Amino acid sequence: MAKRTSLHGFWSSRLVFILAVSGSAVGLGNIWKFPYMAGQNGGGAFVLFYVLCVFGIGLPIMISEVMIGRRGRRNPIATMRIVGEEEGTSATWGFVGALGILAGFLILSFYSVIAGWTLGYLFYSLGGSFHEAGPVDIHKMFVSVQRNWPMILLWHTVFMGLTVLVVARGVERGLETLVSIAMPALLALLAILFVYAAVAGDFSGGARFLFQADFSALTPSAMLGAMGQAFFTLSVGMGAIMAYGAYLPEGTSIARTSFAVCTADTVIALLAGMVIFPIVFANDLDPAQGPGLVFEVLPLAFGNMPFGTLLAPVFFVLLLFAAWTSAIGLLEPAVAWSVETHGRSRAAAAIVIGGLIWLLGFMTIFSFNVLRDRRLLGGTFYENIDHVATNILLPLGGLLLTVFAGWVMCKNSSADELDIGTGLGYRTWRFLARWVAPAAVLVVFLHAAGILRKLGIV
Ligand code: TRP
Repeated sequence: MAKRTSLHGFWSSRLVFILAVSGSAVGLGNIWKFPYMAGQNGGGAFVLFYVLCVFGIGLPIMISEVMIGRRGRRNPIATMRIVGEEEGTSATWGFVGALGILAGFLILSFYSVIAGWTLGYLFYSLGGSFHEAGPVDIHKMFVSVQRNWPMILLWHTVFMGLTVLVVARGVERGLETLVSIAMPALLALLAILFVYAAVAGDFSGGARFLFQADFSALTPSAMLGAMGQAFFTLSVGMGAIMAYGAYLPEGTSIARTSFAVCTADTVIALLAGMVIFPIVFANDLDPAQGPGLVFEVLPLAFGNMPFGTLLAPVFFVLLLFAAWTSAIGLLEPAVAWSVETHGRSRAAAAIVIGGLIWLLGFMTIFSFNVLRDRRLLGGTFYENIDHVATNILLPLGGLLLTVFAGWVMCKNSSADELDIGTGLGYRTWRFLARWVAPAAVLVVFLHAAGILRKLGIV
């Protein structure tokens, strides 16, 4: 059978693909979300469970996604449909792609707002606002930023505009330089911050919080949060990695690339945690304060460290770049789908879909000010959008994708596409994809819904 070819061109090299996938994985999820989630869920045990989910569930699913994507070579909906039919089941599998596109839509709506905060903090840092500031000043600043929603709306608009711009022009152009410079530079700055936090912060307190597991803190909802965070930070479960896999030339090692991306992503998240928590404990801040955590901790570090006035703007620019390359990955599947099914131009599709996501973003903006007290099932709009997308849609999408890769696709197809022979590596992937990942997602779902307890299992 002749292999299909991509409709949107190919990555020019293996390196560009690695850059694109790591660019989508490393983002606000590592620097902003991981520390605040770890803080809210009691640290150690959450972190351990999160790392287990990354390698036991996220990695096999990432491999599955790239593999299905390269097999189908279309947008996630069409790919699932085509490969599903080819493997002798039905085109109904296309709905998994649709589920993913919905998740990307929801995630980008709040992602862009938080990236907007980053943009705002870039301006403050340029104005030297953090200089010698104390925790109280920084807290006041965060509160006044949140109150000033027209300004956040402006930043959110700028960020969505930048994202639409890149996706409209085609993902590859621009992405290469952005990722190959921004990623190593971000890592270097994190390393500098890490040294500062180790010297000036409560290093052992931070390390204890992050790595000493107290399993009584690992409630069912913390487990669900850790699993959702693993999906979120790796960008898996929604077909984004599948869309990138569709542009992957033959002959690239999917398994090795995926393993490298998962490792790098985990290292960056843990490093961010080891920057944040020593400073939190040295200043008696609340680790469980939520989404504002890094925006209240990092300015404090920059305001009081040597060369902080210089390093702060650099850091926020790099974080912005990291968020940008992730946002591009969040928008791409929906745009590829619209271009392929409705024959729209990339530009028109990116503008229309980006515009709708921008509108939904208002709900997140208002969740931190005028609608702060408007709660549904105990959460603000932001918390609900995040919960549905991250903790439900991503793991559900991932579950279906891995069942598809492990059970629906025959051994010949997956072995052919992965091209690592049928030895230990392949068998390990297949075992994880068929049994471990689906079972783990199901168990965490049932546990979070309280069903295991009702059945008397735990
Ligand atoms: N992984 C990104 C981050 O950590 C966020 C994200 C979730 C994402 N799903 C995605 C990015 C899909 C691109 C594609 O910040």
